[in-house]
Amino acid sequence: MSPVSFPSTFLWGAATSAYQIEGAVREDGRTPSIWDTFAHTPGKTAGGDHGDVAVDHYHRYRDDVALMAGLGLGAYRFSISWSRVQPTGRGPAVQRGLDFYRRLVDELLAKDIKPAVTLYHWDLPQELEDAGGWPERDTAYRFAEYAQIVGEALGDRVEQWITLNEPWCSAFLGYGSGVHAPGRTEPVATLRAAHHLNLAHGLGAKALRSVMPARNTVALSLNSSTVRPLTQDAADLAAARKIDDLANGIFHGPILHGAYPESLFTATRQLTDWSYVQDGDLATINQPLDALGLNYYTPALVSAAGPDHTGPRADGHGASEHSPWPAADDVLFHQPPGERTAMGWSIDPTGLYDLVMRYEREVPGLPLYITENGAAYDDKPDAEGRVHDPERVAYLHGHLAEVRRAIADGADVRGYYLWSLLDNFEWAYGYEKRFGAVYVDYTTLERTPKSSAHWYGKAARTGTLPEVDEVF
Ligand code: FCB
Repeated sequence: MSPVSFPSTFLWGAATSAYQIEGAVREDGRTPSIWDTFAHTPGKTAGGDHGDVAVDHYHRYRDDVALMAGLGLGAYRFSISWSRVQPTGRGPAVQRGLDFYRRLVDELLAKDIKPAVTLYHWDLPQELEDAGGWPERDTAYRFAEYAQIVGEALGDRVEQWITLNEPWCSAFLGYGSGVHAPGRTEPVATLRAAHHLNLAHGLGAKALRSVMPARNTVALSLNSSTVRPLTQDAADLAAARKIDDLANGIFHGPILHGAYPESLFTATRQLTDWSYVQDGDLATINQPLDALGLNYYTPALVSAAGPDHTGPRADGHGASEHSPWPAADDVLFHQPPGERTAMGWSIDPTGLYDLVMRYEREVPGLPLYITENGAAYDDKPDAEGRVHDPERVAYLHGHLAEVRRAIADGADVRGYYLWSLLDNFEWAYGYEKRFGAVYVDYTTLERTPKSSAHWYGKAARTGTLPEVDEVF
């Protein structure tokens, strides 16, 4: 096999998010976010786990940056905790909260690691949820104010900016199936939340650009599903189209093209008239982007439902008796054949290729980044304390090879962020699911790079994928 080499400018990064790693939830003026409240509500997370300590990155960030530098990573994507910066979700900034991120960024830059900031990775300040949360329009304006504060504080030293991480999860899991914070199960609120997240993205992008140097880039990260129909029958194709609208079109329609898909309006008409889309919103949402971030783990396989089933359930991040998908009781989700990760997610690297090529066709000329990709496995240290994770290495190799194939076929993919740097708080699954390239012992909080970290580090340093069975 010939070695798989990447362009020399390709960015090799790792990704994390604030609530999943920081801990220190009551320090330096931080107040609860919806995830603090949700995780402390009995029955919401596996084992009642929460992010109070998480992996204590707030205090150990220097060691974590040193770990990345040791591996040879060139970029780090992390998110800002809104509740640290604006504890009530509005009003003046708390400098002590911002200082943490200033120190983190300085540490990264000193080690030649490019920071990429995500402003919102699901942790809305609780006070904003108490005022109605994302289904309310005002939350989008609050987000723009927050974006401006962070842009002013870090815009001089961070070039890459991401407004929202996976707004689908915020809207559909937070307000639809309820498996994510704030745990509401209201189909109409789900669609209202999606629109206000889109509006927040547009207003936030404008706010960032109003205070930042022009060289900085603004993007967002979508968990764009590759939706596959079970067969080519018209009914299955229609089911795939409906889920594609609800998973993808609802965000990339207005953001990239300035309009919601007509078919989305038709499919949801029995629930809502979309009157919360006000004049001028679509133009605000349709801000020019400098790049698009794609998060990819697994494809979706759907068909039309037979008469005797009870509606779609698949949402990947936890089971609920409530479907995350409004107006889609006529769709059935299937488990694709083949191997799965510890999340039960099927492994299909071609889904990443298909996703990249889709956006290459849909928005030609827009640089793409894979802002998340990775896998959970039941990793355990061996007798010598080493953590071998050959399945994760195979997963990364397979997906990176597909990214390379897309580049060869003309896609402008500029970088890849492995999810995740460290084992961390995996939302409703608590600490049960390990996505890290670096193992964390949750008793001592000691970090041990797994073989995948060494494998990926070598890829980053050489720009070439090591063989999948190379031993580290
Ligand atoms: C993505 C999230 C990330 C993590 C991975 C496994 O949807 O953005 O925080 O949970 O899934």
